[in-house]
Amino acid sequence: MGHNSGTMDRLETHPLPLLVTPLGQVEADLLVVPAFEGDDFADVAGLDAATSGEAGRAITNHEFSGKPYELFLTPVTHNWKARRVALVGAGPRGRFDAELARRVATTGVLAARTRRISRVVVLFRTSGDPSHPSRTPDRLLQGLAEGAVLAQQEGGGHKSSPNESPRVADVRLIAPELRATDKAQSAAAVERGRILAECTNVARDLGNEPANMLTPRVLAERAQLAAAGTSLSVQVLDEKEIDALKMGLLLGVARGSAEPARLIVLKHEPAGAPAAPVLGLVGKGITFDTGGISIKPADGMEKMKVDMAGGAAVIAALRAASLLNAPIKVIGVVPVTENMPGGRAIKPGDVLRGAGGKTVEVVNTDAEGRLILGDGLWYAQQLGATHLVDIATLTGACVVALGRGHSGVFGRPDEFTAAARDLGALTGDRLWPMPVTDDYFEQLKSEVADMTNTGGRPAGAVTAAVFLKQFTGDLPWMHLDIAGTALADDARPWQGKGATGVGVRVMAELALDPRRWYAPPA
Ligand code: BES
Ligand code: MN
Ligand code: ZN
Repeated sequence: MGHNSGTMDRLETHPLPLLVTPLGQVEADLLVVPAFEGDDFADVAGLDAATSGEAGRAITNHEFSGKPYELFLTPVTHNWKARRVALVGAGPRGRFDAELARRVATTGVLAARTRRISRVVVLFRTSGDPSHPSRTPDRLLQGLAEGAVLAQQEGGGHKSSPNESPRVADVRLIAPELRATDKAQSAAAVERGRILAECTNVARDLGNEPANMLTPRVLAERAQLAAAGTSLSVQVLDEKEIDALKMGLLLGVARGSAEPARLIVLKHEPAGAPAAPVLGLVGKGITFDTGGISIKPADGMEKMKVDMAGGAAVIAALRAASLLNAPIKVIGVVPVTENMPGGRAIKPGDVLRGAGGKTVEVVNTDAEGRLILGDGLWYAQQLGATHLVDIATLTGACVVALGRGHSGVFGRPDEFTAAARDLGALTGDRLWPMPVTDDYFEQLKSEVADMTNTGGRPAGAVTAAVFLKQFTGDLPWMHLDIAGTALADDARPWQGKGATGVGVRVMAELALDPRRWYAPPA
């Protein structure tokens, strides 16, 4: 899954075994033990003896508190085959959930990477609370698996010197207390987490790629690579085919660029899938956003290489839906272009006509994401989507509203967005509901066209969503604004720096569990 994956004919995957052997027998350079506040490690048989009492002493002497993501490394001196133990703070035992499990595992494996430790085993030590949806044993195991694999992202870059913290050579999970009867189900939970995280890493790799190396044509090739070895079908429409579909919004944005636009279409159509629902995922694929003629300031503009994060999330979510055999049809649509201020670029005041016939007065060429998504949403309906999800680094206003903690979720009906919110909480793609009522459309009124593409400063994230709503027909639809969450500006113990792959897991989980948001007609 490195940056040079374009030279391979399919993406690499790595196994994540789940061991059920006794703890003492596992060979490893580092055993990662989630450690709770006030922990007595009663369920981790032999830990104190193996560490000459260091693990228990760390807690009683307050050298280690168990607060989330705190780290304490100690050698194994007796009995166990593992060489070292890392206690990773996991907070109060009663609050340990899928989200903490994911982050604790990431913390342990990232710590191993920076120390160039090569064989790591992560311990699943709690039986969980089956009555709480984010604390079931399966969800905790899935979270650990996700975290361990997310920590393995290459983050490649293009340095000519070797990576200073290479991937851990061998990562495994161990659940010594697992009952034999639970084994198959637990292995499935681990596999789900592994695939969701590997696909998240695919999206992260794409987001981190510089825009000169990831042009629209290259992103389309990378979508084909992501589909290789899966049951997905891929179609890439070129500028002529896009023109034949009369996608004036996408082509309008592309006019300022020397690079031709592309429209990526991915389909997951499993045998025996019902006629409905058909989930349509539409992702913003701006490979670089200069703002166009309404050009952005230079400061921070380099971050706009990640403006295709929504598109990358759609590509990766389709890959996950296929690898995990989602039971329904899923269609991915990614309109892709640069937003550049070339000599043929659209200008403020220009009027564009979308493929569905709606006209837009372009007041600000930097509000380009909603334009290309307008055509993308229309096309997803043409292809038969019954339910729409769009995902985009759409507005600075959403960053102001929600920061980096949550993506905004807008849409209708409430049951549809609520399902995404629940799944987002389970998978770490945290979402917070925002309004899309029609009264905001007033801010988009145009003298010369059906609407303008900007609504002024008030409620900038909401007016962007209300713009998109005009292109959704009457279908159930939700819009995820990931402008604040697509990029991690700093490294954290539980998350590497750079593109986050936000949205991959929540969209894939929507595809895996349609009963959460769709009731077949009686
Ligand atoms: N890609 C940007 C939004 C963005 C901002 C993403 C910050 C990530 C971080 C989008 O195309 C944009 O420029 N939006 C404008 C819209 C405005 C002109 C109505 C914005 O938010 O300023
Ligand atoms: Mn823009
Ligand atoms: Zn943009």
